[in-house]
Amino acid sequence: MKTDFLVVGSGIAGLNFALKAAKYGKVTIVTKKEIMESNTNLAQGGIAAVTRKDDSVQLHIEDTLNVGSGLSNKRMVKILAEQGPEAIRNLLSFGVAFDKAKNGLHLTTEGGHSMARVLHSGDSTGKEIEHAMTESVRENPGIEVFEDCFAINLILVNKGCIGAKILDIKKRKVHDVFARTTILATGGIGYIYQNTTNPEIATGDGIAIALRAGARIEDMEFVQFHPTTLNKAGAPHFLISEALRGEGAILVNDMGTRFMLEYDKMGELAPRDIIARTIFNELKHGSVYLDIRHKGRSFILERFPMIHKECLKYDLDITKELIPVSPAAHYICGGIKTNEYGETSISNLLAFGECACTGVHGANRLASNSLLESVVFSSLGAQKAEQYLKNKLGTLQKQKETVFFDIEPQELNYLKTELRKALWDYVGIIRKEKQMGLMLNKLERLKARLAVIGKNGINTRFLELKNMVTVAYLVTKAAYTRTESRGTHYRQDYPTTDNKNWLKHIYLEQTNDALHTHCC
Ligand code: SIN
Repeated sequence: MKTDFLVVGSGIAGLNFALKAAKYGKVTIVTKKEIMESNTNLAQGGIAAVTRKDDSVQLHIEDTLNVGSGLSNKRMVKILAEQGPEAIRNLLSFGVAFDKAKNGLHLTTEGGHSMARVLHSGDSTGKEIEHAMTESVRENPGIEVFEDCFAINLILVNKGCIGAKILDIKKRKVHDVFARTTILATGGIGYIYQNTTNPEIATGDGIAIALRAGARIEDMEFVQFHPTTLNKAGAPHFLISEALRGEGAILVNDMGTRFMLEYDKMGELAPRDIIARTIFNELKHGSVYLDIRHKGRSFILERFPMIHKECLKYDLDITKELIPVSPAAHYICGGIKTNEYGETSISNLLAFGECACTGVHGANRLASNSLLESVVFSSLGAQKAEQYLKNKLGTLQKQKETVFFDIEPQELNYLKTELRKALWDYVGIIRKEKQMGLMLNKLERLKARLAVIGKNGINTRFLELKNMVTVAYLVTKAAYTRTESRGTHYRQDYPTTDNKNWLKHIYLEQTNDALHTHCC
């Protein structure tokens, strides 16, 4: 199959690029599940942008840099904040319905913001955006969507990308899809951790296939842990949005004592890494709860209907009861290194959204900057779409027959559980050299075992697990290398920030199957 733009992934970044690029050429979207299944769909809090007169782009820049702990790229942060209002107009033009207040759009605040600037749609902002964009994509004759299609690897010629090998999961067939430009918008990696807010699909596929193609991957040690996810036996680590704290919810311990102000003057609205670590430590002595009861039932039902409904499924009425919470893996600040147009170190390969590393987040992400980043940079990337039409299209290559498992090896499930648990225990919120060394050894063993299993065949779950192991290795290797604490990366053996030696990035590249670690 041939197309002008091959977009892998159907979250906000991929759909926004597709809608804009379709003005210039044929767009093909492949997504491994259904189009609406993405991390975007689960985003609760909102999207940050300067939309009120008493706010300023400069303040948004400062807040982003402050949370980024010295490693954010200042030029990219400036672009992000400056383009924020335009990104919101763009979303409104697709019919996204943000909540309104008397004098315009309703704005809320979250940790690290010095001012209320987060636009939202109740507590289901991502779903509202994904829904509006999906409708626009479906109505667009220039965009074709293939669901249940998994990108296995990129196709390269002379170190340039000419498309991807795509597995049609239902038909069990692998196709070469040739494109003038290939766009990775595959989302995050959270599912490599046992405790995560991310869905099962967040297996880091885009980052893993980009690495295998030789792309530069940066800042992988900076995994953001969300401080407040539901912590109830039998319930998943469902996200309890930071917007609850933005609207006045407080954190208390078993004794009912509010504790956050002892650790940071911003209290419950301190940057996420500080709150996540504090809760993690408090949990060693007892439970931690979020309390929003004082806001009243009607406010809670109107502002947080989805969280209220979801918690009721687990016998918890947040209008009457304390919400038991604990941190969980939420977002990867690093990824495939790109410039402001999404261009990577491989020609004709772009990356947008969570799988990309634009550099805006640095060592930690300001809440609600991720949806904004996805829209801003995919829009800028699409400005070059016409230019990419000059790229040559690849031609059919001889296919190697793909062998599929007759019966999926039961071992895959066991290996996945083992990986996710070990990563949580060894490369989680608090990290130490010894544990990370053990994790690297474990990952080598897992990789070797998968190579043996793969000789008998493949299926999607096998390919995902292979990608999870790859991405877990990148996180662990980078975290092991950075001998200091900064942003989301906390080392018990190096608890302070070392600006003298570590005001730099770690990037990883793979050549001929060997992984190289560099600092810059
Ligand atoms: C949240 O609603 O707390 C998550 C928002 C984000 O990760 O930016």
